[in-house]
Amino acid sequence: MQTIKSVGKVGNLKVKVDSIETASYHAGIGHTRWATHGSVNETNCHPHISESGRFVVIHNGIIENFAEIKKSLIEKGKTFQSETDTEVTVQLFEDIFDGDHISTLKKITKKMHGAYGLVFIDKEHPDRLFGTKKGSPMVIGFGKDEKYISSDYRALIGLIDDYIILEDGDIFMMTPEEYTILSEDKEVQRDHHGIDEDELPVELGDFPHFMLKEIYEQKDVIREMFRGRIDFEKNTLHSDTLEALVQENIEKITIVASGTSYHSGLVGKYYLEEFADIPTDVIVSAEFKYKKKFIDSKTLFIFVSQSGETADVLDSLKIVKEQGGKVFGIVNVPGSAIARTTGRGLYTRAGIEIGVASTKAFTTQVATFLFMALYLGKHRNLDYRKYREILENFRKIPEVLEKVCEQKDTIQGIAKKYSHFEDIFYLGRGLELPIALEGSLKLKEISYIHSEAYASGELKHGPIALIDEKFPTILINGDTSLYEKNISTAEEIKARKGTVLGIVSENDTKKSSYDDVLTYPSVHSDLDVFTQTVILQLFSYFVALELDRDIDKPRNLAKSVTVE
Ligand code: AGP
Repeated sequence: MQTIKSVGKVGNLKVKVDSIETASYHAGIGHTRWATHGSVNETNCHPHISESGRFVVIHNGIIENFAEIKKSLIEKGKTFQSETDTEVTVQLFEDIFDGDHISTLKKITKKMHGAYGLVFIDKEHPDRLFGTKKGSPMVIGFGKDEKYISSDYRALIGLIDDYIILEDGDIFMMTPEEYTILSEDKEVQRDHHGIDEDELPVELGDFPHFMLKEIYEQKDVIREMFRGRIDFEKNTLHSDTLEALVQENIEKITIVASGTSYHSGLVGKYYLEEFADIPTDVIVSAEFKYKKKFIDSKTLFIFVSQSGETADVLDSLKIVKEQGGKVFGIVNVPGSAIARTTGRGLYTRAGIEIGVASTKAFTTQVATFLFMALYLGKHRNLDYRKYREILENFRKIPEVLEKVCEQKDTIQGIAKKYSHFEDIFYLGRGLELPIALEGSLKLKEISYIHSEAYASGELKHGPIALIDEKFPTILINGDTSLYEKNISTAEEIKARKGTVLGIVSENDTKKSSYDDVLTYPSVHSDLDVFTQTVILQLFSYFVALELDRDIDKPRNLAKSVTVE
């Protein structure tokens, strides 16, 4: 058995792996660690090895009671190499190993609390992988002459023909020839899922980064979101899922999500209240999970997630389901845990998103919320003229997004100018506040510039103290009823020597109120969030490019956050 570890980019590991002879090995495990316990160094990298060197493990998740398990093993005389929670799993496994891998796995899982996807190798049986999962995703993929296990089937595209999804509590054992899955002591079969033809490995093509590619793809994926759901010629909407929902006479909606998906939920709230006339709350999943819940038959809980695997969202969903609440998913990844657990919902159809900073997932979520709000609204009090007006303009979104992308050189020029600042404010009101929040998140994620987003009206209540010539503001000010109020905000900032970059419509008549402007072709004040978002995505992208950041894989971040 050989163990190879490396810190930093996976490419560093590849160099080491390429330098060794692997032809005689039949099984291997690997893990990209996202540090939860212990600093980023080779000792803390997976795999971890039992004291005798016989067992090795990789682990995705967190063992919450690792400290007490570790203490009891140390009292028994075990020595630990790393600071990680993961190492206790393999030391515990060795400590209670009874000669049978499956029965030992059952015993260790009874002692561990937390989330885990665990894969072990026993040096005495080097041709087999075995493990278990709870809370963390795990799939087994089937290739021509080999099998794979992974936290995400998309990591295996190009290598496998089909895959199965393991459920919580499943224990698996596999060799190149066969595999077994046990659930509650019984052997079970899990359904096989094929790989769609359009799920071929995603290539960068002529783009320098996946993020830029995905920003450009937004026009296409929004059209994909429309497909089969909106007939723009006849002004009709189609969805069996929503038709069934209409019959349930929902009176209140609570949206639960994290990060960018939370921001799309805030836009969703505006649409659901405005067009469907349903009072809607939005809450960050990590907060929702631990707060008092108000569940009744007239409240719908919508769980929004690109990956469909975010632990806080999934845990919140399970709690609501257990308490008998009505659940619904707005998810990008088909067959993901949140899609399966909600059992009903709408796919956003953004396709595979590789860039850690979410872009096309956001705009397709917003489009999905708009579709849903119009559908529900049509069966409630939405005025038909208003319905048609929104629908006619919704149709134009893909083409205006294309126009915004054509302005990339102008956006890059402005981004270069603002890339020298250490702090940037984002302000917006009403529907534009979530766009300010999302713009700010994008900037901090990929450029590491400190930024804050506020409701413009809150500026006077404290944050204005920060404004000076070193702290510029990006003010989103579309053609809404709050337009003049934002112009006053711009003046207040300039009076304190702050620089203001306005994100405004091409037809804006007060562009001189700002130091700089980036403009978009306005289609409708309720729909300009799409173009405003794309401008801010490109702005963040070009700031990060100027600063030579690792745009697709920013430091400290993981694409899907499968631990709490
Ligand atoms: C977005 O750019 C982030 N990477 C992050 O905030 C993300 O949106 C969040 O972790 C939620 O992920 P999900 O949509 O897959 O649930």
